[in-house]
Amino acid sequence: MSSTSKNIESVLVETRVFPPDNRATQGARISGMAAYEALCKEAETDFDGFWTRLARENVQWTKPFTRTLDESKAPFYQWFGDGELNASANCLDKHIGTPTEDKTAIIFEADDGAVTKITYKDLLTRVSQFANALKAQGIQKGDRVIVYMPMTIEGVIAMQACARIGATHSVVFGGFSAKALQERIIDAGAVAVITANYQLRGGKELPLKAIVDDGIALGGCTTIKTVLVYERTLTDWKRVEGRDISFTEALAEVEGQGLCPPEPVNAEHPLFILYTSGSTGKPKGVQHATGGYLLWAKLTMDWTFDLRPEDVFWCTADIGWITGHTYVAYGPLAAGATQVVFEGIPTYPHAGRFWQMVEKHRVTIFYTAPTAIRSLIKAAESDEKVHPKNWDLSSLRILGSVGEPINPEAWMWYHRNIGHERCPIVDTFWQTETGGHVITPLPGATPLVPGSCTLPLPGIMAAIVDETGKDLPNGAGGMLVIKRPWPSMIRTIWNDPERFKKSYFPEEMGGTIYLAGDGAVRSADRGYFRITGRIDDVLNVSGHRLGTMEIESALVSKTDLVAEAAVVGRPDDVTGEAVCAFVVLKRGRPSGDEAKQIATDLRNWVAKEIGPIAKPKDIRFGDNLPKTRSGKIMRRLLRSIAKGEAITQDTSTLENPAILEQLGQAY
Ligand code: WTA
Repeated sequence: MSSTSKNIESVLVETRVFPPDNRATQGARISGMAAYEALCKEAETDFDGFWTRLARENVQWTKPFTRTLDESKAPFYQWFGDGELNASANCLDKHIGTPTEDKTAIIFEADDGAVTKITYKDLLTRVSQFANALKAQGIQKGDRVIVYMPMTIEGVIAMQACARIGATHSVVFGGFSAKALQERIIDAGAVAVITANYQLRGGKELPLKAIVDDGIALGGCTTIKTVLVYERTLTDWKRVEGRDISFTEALAEVEGQGLCPPEPVNAEHPLFILYTSGSTGKPKGVQHATGGYLLWAKLTMDWTFDLRPEDVFWCTADIGWITGHTYVAYGPLAAGATQVVFEGIPTYPHAGRFWQMVEKHRVTIFYTAPTAIRSLIKAAESDEKVHPKNWDLSSLRILGSVGEPINPEAWMWYHRNIGHERCPIVDTFWQTETGGHVITPLPGATPLVPGSCTLPLPGIMAAIVDETGKDLPNGAGGMLVIKRPWPSMIRTIWNDPERFKKSYFPEEMGGTIYLAGDGAVRSADRGYFRITGRIDDVLNVSGHRLGTMEIESALVSKTDLVAEAAVVGRPDDVTGEAVCAFVVLKRGRPSGDEAKQIATDLRNWVAKEIGPIAKPKDIRFGDNLPKTRSGKIMRRLLRSIAKGEAITQDTSTLENPAILEQLGQAY
């Protein structure tokens, strides 16, 4: 039996239920299922009134809105469209004059273990100074700014400072290549890049500024006027005169300037663009608005994490991903939480680092990805010294999971070894496009079932439908949709409104309901959602989204070598999915050492074109790819080969059946 069908089976027989105990329900913001159901009911009976109330209670508006939801241009929905606010003021200024002002906003732990803490008041000063510096560089409201920064307090400051002056940031993960950066700079039409000379990860100094230089040197980045460089290390960096300026220099220019007033923007003003992979080769610039996004970032901190004033919150995601936007850069600050920001990696200097940090900072809410959990299980099983039992995890109250399905085995290990069978696990389903959690348990209310993200948050009208948009009964697998808009939803794809409509609001379903791109099934008994994986050509490797087409285009762009390539995913015990590439070379099928060398070269090529996260784990060479007589590559066969499964599918329409055996062989 294949590992996928085993997984499916183990989930189908999943009968374990973990109701929240008294500790979790007592004093919870949403305590018990009746409280959850009451909120859902409120949203169903008075949709507009529900969101109006929440937006008034949770967001500070400089100009109150009078219209809640405008559907006149659907699917280009507008929320709170005539209101004005500033996101940074909602994360920082709003705490001034309250007891939160002297509270620690960020506990920063560097790669080498050094700890720096900053209060809300001091964070506001730093963001304000940097916002002044951005303005002094000529950056204005509406400009796009690329942030290519390590996980640091300065990374958060860069994002907040952009928001403060009304500039739209586009954060690019520090693991993306020069080419990926160049494409994003061009697509966004960015005027500036905020970066660091180096980033520190796992004891290594990795260049960032040099990659920015390489990206810009690839050409076409004509809109860039300034590159701001945070000197994370003492190491020298190469300066381009007239364009580059260090943080120290930029801040010196505005020394003595008072507080930078937060620029009020319209609720629909683009707070950020974040590029993510889709079904075609080019990444999509997911555009989020200010008002609705901020509302949901704040509210889900309260609802999903049941945030309390004394909590120490730690989301391990990088600011380069949506999770790091909503649950590092905005949500915790808007909610007035103390949070841990970590520069390093979970396995350095040892694989007990996360647990050691939980103990050291008395973390109460811990939010990470299944991939990290699975790799730390492996490490703990092979080395007693890094087993979580070596650390005091008694401060933990709530655990979270995000980015990919968590298999029940990993869920149980997390529950036992980290949560000590006392902490609810919130398995939060959401996407770059949803802005924040959409389907998730509530720690003080929802009975948990391992491997299930359980039920939609109040106001999120999630459903499972067939291709025509018709509702499917519980137990039947189908496509996950959200039938009504919600405030933090994607507004458009930057520069490509047509693609926005086509990707997310298919005509066959009426053109106004949101198609998530994931398959899902609801359990027969409770109606709980379980996500079965992407239904498009998007892979999820270690919780990172990668488009198969994106990797294929990278491979075939090595034109001297590659004639054709097809990329599929296969299940992997640690990373969830792994990238498997089938490659046809111009020179014919290689073997032995030559094949090994070419495979290494191709992996490095993909790392250069996209980033190391996209490197194929398996590369198979063939004289050809399996195609139908009409020339279409049969990906489902490739998926079976990648998994090492026997081919049971009908291959009679195949032009060249002999190729299957060849592709099944490793070199
Ligand atoms: C997957 C990350 C199962 C899903 C926040 C989705 C999940 C994609 C879960 C979005 C979960 C995310 N259970 N699958 N709890 N959370 N996914 O845009 O396939 O990087 O479509 O956003 O991750 O990935 P993205």
